[in-house]
Amino acid sequence: MSIALFIQHRFSERWKDHLTTLLPDQKIEIYPEIENPDMVEYAISWKHEMGVFSQFKNLKVIASLGAGVHHILKDESISKEIKVTRIVDDQLQKDMASFVLTQCLNVSRNIFQYLRQQENKEWKLSTYKTPEETKVGILGMGVLGKATAQLLHQNGFQVLGWSRSKKEIDHITTYEASELNQFLSQTEILVCLLPITKATIGIVNHEIFNQLPKGSSFINVARGELVEDADLLQALEKKQLNWAILDVFKEEPLPEDHLFWEHPKVVITPHSASLTNPKTASKQLAENYLRLEEKKDLLNVVDRERGY
Ligand code: NAP
Ligand code: GLV
Repeated sequence: MSIALFIQHRFSERWKDHLTTLLPDQKIEIYPEIENPDMVEYAISWKHEMGVFSQFKNLKVIASLGAGVHHILKDESISKEIKVTRIVDDQLQKDMASFVLTQCLNVSRNIFQYLRQQENKEWKLSTYKTPEETKVGILGMGVLGKATAQLLHQNGFQVLGWSRSKKEIDHITTYEASELNQFLSQTEILVCLLPITKATIGIVNHEIFNQLPKGSSFINVARGELVEDADLLQALEKKQLNWAILDVFKEEPLPEDHLFWEHPKVVITPHSASLTNPKTASKQLAENYLRLEEKKDLLNVVDRERGY
């Protein structure tokens, strides 16, 4: 039994080194250099090439290198028998929460506006709202949404959370699926932390933007597929939205000719809100491999039908 890594753009050698330290006697290979595909029972994927797993007849588990799993679930060639796991890691949560907090402060303290003004040597003071006067609404109150909500609250923001099922979280005002309108009508900074599923693709569209108070801002740290880009651009044009801070895109890297690059009200980061940390996260990958060997239940298994 062996482990194979299928990792695009994310430092395969570093992952291999960390896993080798934890599983010193284990064969760990990096695709495409796989000696015997029939030996591979455990694969680790970050944006693998579609269809690649059909050569691995004895594959039992595909572990996502991230919290998101759509890059695996969208590959229809993967047999239904194969289990899919994902990363749930304290460091991933801390990094996401601090990224979103940073962006909420940048918005509320007018930092993006001042950076634009600096380009024109423009000295123009604006008033600002304190965190206590600002309502941040989070779409998706899972592992990352909850950690983000808590950090925002600790820093004074008023926090609202929306998810499929109702949550009870101290100091956070929570809404379930049917209460979306109520949630949106109060949200001044909207943060997207939903997974991609059949129900969420394109969910952030004109209907959502139009229900926010005029001049709200939007932070997408989930996935580009959740957002209708044309509706987002229109909401910015109409000043329904003030800022869009986008970390994720339908196509990554974002194509050079995409309108987002030049838009004065769009801030772009290169899918870097929270990068899975090999030092902390390789422990659960190794643990799951040992569990597979010992035929024990795996950690962080994804419900493939539900999509997250
Ligand atoms: P998670 O724990 O699975 O949480 C998902 C949340 O979304 C849950 O609260 C779930 O509701 C809610 N949800 C799902 N479908 C819904 C629907 N149709 N309507 C309303 N709510 C719905 O996921 P996570 O670990 O927090 O990660 C969220 C996403 O963040 C990942 O899928 C990934 O794409 C993205 N991400 C991005 C970065 C980055 O660097 N930009 C890093 C890590 C992750 P219930 O609680 O009711 O089930
Ligand atoms: C990153 O985008 C992740 O899903 O962990």
